[in-house]
Amino acid sequence: MRKKITVIGGGNVGEHVAVGCAQRELGDVVLLDILEGIPQGKGLDLFESSPVEGWDSNVIGTNSYDDVAGSDVVVITAGLARKPGMSRDDLQAKNASIVKMCTEAAIKASPNAMLVLVSNPLDVMCYVAKQVSGFPAERVVGMAGVLDTARYRSFLAMELGVSVESIQALVLGGHGDSMVPLPRLTTIGGIPLPELLSQDRIDAIVERTAKGGGEIVSLLKSGSAYHAPGASVVEMVESILRDKKKILPCAAWLTGQYGVDGCFVGVPVKLGSKGVEQIYEIKLEAGELDALQTSAGLVKEQQAKLDV
Ligand code: LAC
Repeated sequence: MRKKITVIGGGNVGEHVAVGCAQRELGDVVLLDILEGIPQGKGLDLFESSPVEGWDSNVIGTNSYDDVAGSDVVVITAGLARKPGMSRDDLQAKNASIVKMCTEAAIKASPNAMLVLVSNPLDVMCYVAKQVSGFPAERVVGMAGVLDTARYRSFLAMELGVSVESIQALVLGGHGDSMVPLPRLTTIGGIPLPELLSQDRIDAIVERTAKGGGEIVSLLKSGSAYHAPGASVVEMVESILRDKKKILPCAAWLTGQYGVDGCFVGVPVKLGSKGVEQIYEIKLEAGELDALQTSAGLVKEQQAKLDV
């Protein structure tokens, strides 16, 4: 039997998640939005591309949570996107109420689903979904680290003139300017990054990565990134539904790992059919651990402002 994926929020990110999941035949896709006609139009249009491209996934768009019933994965992208000059945290109050509503309705229809959060501020929205759903922590995960790592790998590939596929890397921490790229653990075709690039250039790329989302927002002027965020979600959904058990940096609920307790923050996890099947607590150097704890501290400060 085919898997079922619901994507809540029919904006650019939601649409790209739907496209990627359908094209990879990860399951049947339901695109849900409150705007009448938009998800239906996008869903039908996407399905009509399937005979040309040759994939078999049913795709529908809807305004009704009745159509969400029985989903294996629910991806929540709903919420406002940043405008130039805004931080992700500026979206918190509005997006928390949107994510709360979406989560309540989605879990009523799909009590056994895995929740994948995308709305910003990401780490805090994961907390909202966990609190509202009452789901075990392994069934709530946030997409950020895959995206941040993809940006970091892209910048390194541009700098070094090598294939993006040769770059293995890890970006931890909250999905904000305090994120923690780890150059020490970055390899280029197996070669440690510091052997190929000066510290100055590494620092500049780390800085550009941390501000990578804002760079796209200021270029687009309205709305935020969607190609790389959409692709990142699809990689996570694939790892879950195909039980690939990829190790990916994702926002996961920490209960003391890395000295962090009681918030979601980006760490390496194993993603499989049971969700977050393992959190890897790797040995970090003092400065790296400090940066991760500082980042988690900022997430917790934001979390404390919530009322859920
Ligand atoms: C970004 C948004 C998705 O980083 O947070 O582009």
